Amino acid sequence: MTEHPITQRSKWNSRLGFILAAAGSAVGLGNIWKFPYITGENGGGLFVLIYLVCIVLVGLPIMVAEIMIGRAAQKQPVGAFEALQGHKTSWTAIGWMGVLAGFIILSFYAVVAGWAMDFTLKSVVDFTSTIEESTDREAAQFVAKATPSELRSMLIDDAVSHDVRDFAKAQQRSLLQSTWDEYQAHKEFLATYRKEWDKFLSLTPVEDQRALLTQGRFEQQKLLNEIDVDALRTEVQKEIADLSDEEVLARLKLELDSSQRLLSDPKIAAAVAAGEAVEAKIAERKSELQEKWKAHFAAVPLSELEEQARTIKRRELIFNATQSAFLATATDGWTAMFWTLIFMGITTLIVGSGIASGIERTCQILMPLLLVLIVGMVVYGMFQPGFKSAFNFVFYPDPSKLKPSGVLEALGHAFFTLSLGMGAMLTYGSYQDSKSGLIGEALAITFLDTLIALLACLMIFPIAFSYGQEPSAGPGLVFMSMPLAFAEIGRGGMLLAIGFFGLLFFAALTSAVSLLEVVTSYLIDQKGWHRHSAAWSMGAAITLFAIPSAFALDENFVMSGWETGFKMNFFDTMDYLASNWLLPLGGLFIALYAGWGMPRRLQVAEVQDLAPGLFWGWLFLVRIVAPILVIIVLLQKVRILDIDMLLAGRFNCHEILF
Ligand code: PHE
Repeated sequence: MTEHPITQRSKWNSRLGFILAAAGSAVGLGNIWKFPYITGENGGGLFVLIYLVCIVLVGLPIMVAEIMIGRAAQKQPVGAFEALQGHKTSWTAIGWMGVLAGFIILSFYAVVAGWAMDFTLKSVVDFTSTIEESTDREAAQFVAKATPSELRSMLIDDAVSHDVRDFAKAQQRSLLQSTWDEYQAHKEFLATYRKEWDKFLSLTPVEDQRALLTQGRFEQQKLLNEIDVDALRTEVQKEIADLSDEEVLARLKLELDSSQRLLSDPKIAAAVAAGEAVEAKIAERKSELQEKWKAHFAAVPLSELEEQARTIKRRELIFNATQSAFLATATDGWTAMFWTLIFMGITTLIVGSGIASGIERTCQILMPLLLVLIVGMVVYGMFQPGFKSAFNFVFYPDPSKLKPSGVLEALGHAFFTLSLGMGAMLTYGSYQDSKSGLIGEALAITFLDTLIALLACLMIFPIAFSYGQEPSAGPGLVFMSMPLAFAEIGRGGMLLAIGFFGLLFFAALTSAVSLLEVVTSYLIDQKGWHRHSAAWSMGAAITLFAIPSAFALDENFVMSGWETGFKMNFFDTMDYLASNWLLPLGGLFIALYAGWGMPRRLQVAEVQDLAPGLFWGWLFLVRIVAPILVIIVLLQKVRILDIDMLLAGRFNCHEILF
């Protein structure tokens, strides 16, 4: 198919093709990698519920707005606003921000997609057979060497730490984050001195004084400098050893004074008391559990103890193996870059082949495949012992498990997962010239995206739960916990692993294509470039820009100046900048433009087939509700507003007055 960039604008072949391509953009790493782990970190059900509300109140209306603007303008984001207004306008800044966001997001997105590709290959060669054999052997050796009482105490420790985790988290969550931080910051230093306070008064021998001073100084220094604990300890020991006995006594008095002073600061004292109360409760629960499990394991026959210990040991060994496999990929910049390059090559090839014959055709094949794969994995999960608890975790809202700031995370994620705020949907919409069915399309895309995010949870958590993994494992959930479970499943796990990482790769590919399309279409629409040259030159530029992200975790290439300046590595900085700032800001302006700025005549032309009630409902959301919610999120980000504090002030006064 030949394309004439200026005279004849490319079009989708069918409405279904458009919907699949747009859903392909929306469904990506955000659904399968990010959503499950942030759901895990935010305690499950209630977070999911709030996320769904954000999708309906903010995501859906902005999705309609983006497609509407694209369809009406028949231009990509940089040209769209001028075309609609009929003159130069500052709304065009939205378009520039979108191109920038596309460039930035794709640069780190391609790196994560590269990990998925590497893992697909590793699933075949590494994760299953080799890991399975070596860990089996080592676990058996361990059990053969251990005494029965060692086995028992290992099993008791494992059971107790597993059981106490939720309780401990809920307890900590009952405090304000700032209270908990304050407590953490002072507890060791204070504990060192408070414990010894009485002893000191009743004339401690001088060696004890020296030891106490050394320890206290160490804890204090550690707070300021957490880099090399061992070196710090030797340094402090040397420093104190050089002092005379009188000096030790004098210094110790000073330190004790300052610890007293810390405690006489009412805020710190309150934080320490609250923190200690929480720790005491946790310790109490722990010792109850210890008794319970002690009694339990006392009655278990030796052969069964050995069996259970072997399972636990094996899991630990596999965990170490899969963790180092992940780290080997992520921390080796050259491997990461190799896969990034291949991924960008495939992405560029698709975008270079055009709208209908490249993007639409790819998505028409990959999207149904993705759905089949994910449903297959969920069906597998349904037969796992952990399915029921996973289902409850995802769908049962438990308010004690969510911090208010989790609400903001849900809203922020709604933008990322629906590809909103940077003009991807706007660009895809511009390749359509129908004037009907707008809401239906937006609903279908949003529905597919949400469905796949929920299915991803129902695929990951049953497997994670059945194999003793924590839902709150963080970004490593997909890259460490899942391979772990696959390795435990053994040979059949290999097929699952290939299916899983292949799925991740396909999902990432169809999203990456839309990111590159936004950047590429700028050169085509605004500068009259041919599609091929536009796609390949932008693809190459983004690949170059991906280098620092690919090497961000590689210790040999760390840009330490960057990390000290921004307090996070290059990769995280790019993610943070795009997901936390560019997308919500872009989304806010798009909502404002569609609600307030866009000429009414053009707006109405796009929604002729809509019942008036629905139109007014949409207008209300896009004019008022969505902007207000996004502004709240942004204010929280610049720390003008601390929602945890605000709500705690309202509902939890005793903690502040405590
Ligand atoms: N929506 C994609 C995902 O969930 C990411 C994306 C963001 C794609 C913005 C395009 C634009 O992974």
